Amino acid sequence: MNCTSIRLSAHPSTSCNNPSKTYNYSLITYYYLLSAKFLSLRPMQSLQEQIKQYEQEINSFTPADATELENYRIKFLGTKGIVKAIFGEMKNVPVEQKKEAGQLLNTFKQLAEGKYDAFAHLQGGNGKQDTGIDITLPGTAIPTGTRHPLRMVENEIVSIFEKIGFSVATGPEIEDDWHNFTSLNMPEHHPARDMQDTFYVSQNPDWVLRTHTSSVQARIMEQGNLPVRVICPGRVYRNETISARAHCFFHQCEGLYIDKNVSFADLKQTLYYFVTEMFGADTKVRFRPSYFPFTEPSAEMDISCTVCGGSGCSLCKHTGWVEILGCGMVHPNMLRNFGIDSEVYTGFAFGMGVERITQIKYQVNDLRLYSQNDIRFLKQFQSI
Ligand code: DAH
Repeated sequence: MNCTSIRLSAHPSTSCNNPSKTYNYSLITYYYLLSAKFLSLRPMQSLQEQIKQYEQEINSFTPADATELENYRIKFLGTKGIVKAIFGEMKNVPVEQKKEAGQLLNTFKQLAEGKYDAFAHLQGGNGKQDTGIDITLPGTAIPTGTRHPLRMVENEIVSIFEKIGFSVATGPEIEDDWHNFTSLNMPEHHPARDMQDTFYVSQNPDWVLRTHTSSVQARIMEQGNLPVRVICPGRVYRNETISARAHCFFHQCEGLYIDKNVSFADLKQTLYYFVTEMFGADTKVRFRPSYFPFTEPSAEMDISCTVCGGSGCSLCKHTGWVEILGCGMVHPNMLRNFGIDSEVYTGFAFGMGVERITQIKYQVNDLRLYSQNDIRFLKQFQSI
């Protein structure tokens, strides 16, 4: 016997705090047996009593709205609710009564859940709080934008060249003098630089905003991986007064092909293929001799006017021809600048303005429209 069970009997004569007292063993035994009986009976009885009380409450409960039903759920069925708490009492029930108690508890649980289910419609849909949102209604369409016309045309140019084995190369928009001018056979004081006045970075006079994508040619040759067959789209800058025909930034697409036995005939055929893909199979081309420091010989390529077909209109200024790009055979000096043997390798290069191609394709007559972000202009170009 331990003191704890004796204390339960609460009789002064049985206190173990007073060892001098003579124990009345029969009384102790009586109390002990009584308390044991009481302990074993009490959990079951109190369980029954509690359940009865809650059953009454549940039976008489009729929720008026979703809030009342939710309060009911929290009170009876929630993680800290009555059903859970009462199930917790099971551990106090003596073994021989556990079966009976289990049945009692299950019936009670079913009653509590049944009441909730009977009014679940108050919660809407899936028993969750009614949000007032009908998820079966069609959604509000989000208006989608379109690609910028310049990007659309750039993508088209690139994909035409990709079909014949060109891959895309890009370079930095802030360039150094070597890659933008000097290595392209345009040393300092070369008069060709005058045509490409640009923006210089004041902290470092060697840095410029690139004036053309030909700088990417230089960067590709520098890598020394031959043969080369690249198409280089990108933004370029020039110190121009902004008008319908000129802007301080615009876009170009450069091409470079270097291999053994590359000839001017390859250049002509490649560019002819490009214009027929871009402007249609009927398009005619013509080459006019020109000058670029980085190509020799050099040419400008014109196409037959896509608007009037050659009979004369404002786009072709009544000549029947529209200039679209500059091109030529890569100058041997340029090959040498990058350690490429110009006796073994030859190449061709070309550069076109994306704005110019877009203007011809879509008859846009003002360069400023491309950067004004006027939605009325932009939404005329549909793309996926
Ligand atoms: N870089 C020239 C320009 O911006 C365009 C050009 C002409 C590029 C001839 C070339 C080329 O690659 O061969 O005016």
